[in-house]
Amino acid sequence: MIRTLRWEDMNDIVSNYYSFYDELKVDPDFGIIFYPTKPDYESEIAWFAGLYRDMLLGDVVAVVAEEDGRVVGLCDVHRTRPKSELSHVGVLGITIRRGYRDRGIGTAMIEKALELSRDKFEIVRLDVFTVNSRAIALYRKLGFVEYGIFPASVKRGSRYYDQMMMYYKF
Ligand SMILES: CC(C)(COP(=O)(O)OP(=O)(O)OC[C@H]1O[C@@H](n2cnc3c(N)ncnc32)[C@H](O)[C@@H]1OP(=O)(O)O)[C@@H](O)C(=O)NCCC(=O)NCCS
Repeated sequence: MIRTLRWEDMNDIVSNYYSFYDELKVDPDFGIIFYPTKPDYESEIAWFAGLYRDMLLGDVVAVVAEEDGRVVGLCDVHRTRPKSELSHVGVLGITIRRGYRDRGIGTAMIEKALELSRDKFEIVRLDVFTVNSRAIALYRKLGFVEYGIFPASVKRGSRYYDQMMMYYKF
């Protein structure tokens, strides 16, 4: 089921985020941005509370996927600088827990997030690791257009990753 974020989703979302740190150990190219050490639970609660507050304020669209009685995916579109000259641009992020990928959940979540973003933003942008071919294929399929490559924009240990920058215009 695809639906908007609820306050009670916090534990599942933090647990999913922590699982990505475990996944990084087996997939060093995992395509989200990490901190050098896993943030503690208090920091995660503060992050979630901020996300939820910004959704209530109208500066975030947050969509989740619920499967097997738990939240397995989150897609958010956030305004980086509310009430500024960047207010018309939303930045999209998406993560799905391992075991639930490649079943169309990402497609459904982004479609819903774009539907809800239509009234809030004129443009949605994102950055994606150039090695993340699945994510790039998905974004292209849904109408995102590449506008450049940011070389070595991510430094993970001694390794650098390039990011593709893409946008979607309503
Ligand atoms: C990227 C992610 C959000 C995509 O969600 P998903 O539910 O797995 O994606 P979907 O099943 O809806 O669609 C994936 C599409 O990519 C295609 N695909 C899968 N692997 C691919 C690959 N290696 N190269 C090209 N296309 C690929 C699938 O065939 C599918 O296309 P289709 O619908 O035309 O058949 C999800 O896999 C994920 O959370 N990955 C880990 C975190 C991440 O990378 N987040 C993105 C950060 S920018």
